[in-house]
Amino acid sequence: MPKLIIDTDTGSDDAIALLMALAHPDAEVLALTTVAGNVPLDQATRNAKSTLRVAERTDVPVYVGCDRPLVHPLETATEVHGEDGLGNANLPDPGINSQDEHAVPALVRLAAESNGEHDLITLGPLTNVAAALAIDPDLLTRFRRTVIMGGAPDMVGNVTDMAEFNIWVDPEAAARVFVAPGARVMVGWNVSMTAGLISPEQRQAMAQVGTASGQFAHDVTSVVEAFCHQELGIPFFSLPDPLAVAIALDDTIATRTQAIGVTVGRSDEARGATFPTHLNPDAPATDIVWEADGDAFQTQMFDALRALP
Ligand code: BDR
Ligand code: CA
Repeated sequence: MPKLIIDTDTGSDDAIALLMALAHPDAEVLALTTVAGNVPLDQATRNAKSTLRVAERTDVPVYVGCDRPLVHPLETATEVHGEDGLGNANLPDPGINSQDEHAVPALVRLAAESNGEHDLITLGPLTNVAAALAIDPDLLTRFRRTVIMGGAPDMVGNVTDMAEFNIWVDPEAAARVFVAPGARVMVGWNVSMTAGLISPEQRQAMAQVGTASGQFAHDVTSVVEAFCHQELGIPFFSLPDPLAVAIALDDTIATRTQAIGVTVGRSDEARGATFPTHLNPDAPATDIVWEADGDAFQTQMFDALRALP
């Protein structure tokens, strides 16, 4: 099992994703890097640390990254995740210091130290990774692979008709990441809306696991559940970042993938759209996940919530 570096804009589903990576018996989380996205950078960093506190893993180093996208002003998703990004759970100050090193040089260093063995997992806008690519254009080749939660390869987005949040927030960054050399897996909004759906009963079951982590997973998803119910009229919400981590930890959860280039839209109309392309010679292949095993995902998630404090 490779060691993991996880880049996160820690909102509610990021937090559960981090718990899953921290809980996995064969995985080692080497570092968290934070980026602005779901919430502003300070809150994302605080939320990453709150998650480490719940998991009793305050030994994992946290590197603070970019506070805004490369070109566009930052747009957050607090209406989806809560003002604090964690369901307005009112968590106490986690009391963990950040590392002095900025996330961007940290990513460059961790990549160099990886010897092609570590995995990079990205759960937020790709700003930190794009900035690191500006320093080391071969950054992604130094990881075993990069698993990206982001994109809507079926053109059904969650911010615009076509675009998914992580890519839409910083499309210029995403465009650089999808043309960089190296192995990539894309776990998009499409598959999170099939294999990553959580019902009210399943959310209740999180609290019934009987651990602080299970209660935390339940509590931080209160706003996203209400948002999906009230704004979208659906009784489910999805957990895109946990599904991405589940696939990173267990390849077999991705049941159908397609290796194809991805072009990122940057015009006003197409901002953040992720177009599968076999005609663009500048877009090296990304493994797009089209189908995933929702039961196996849920099993891994509940195992994690049970295994943690
Ligand atoms: C993605 O955007 C964020 O709201 C979630 O944390 C996830 O990373 C889904 O579009
Ligand atoms: Ca996220």
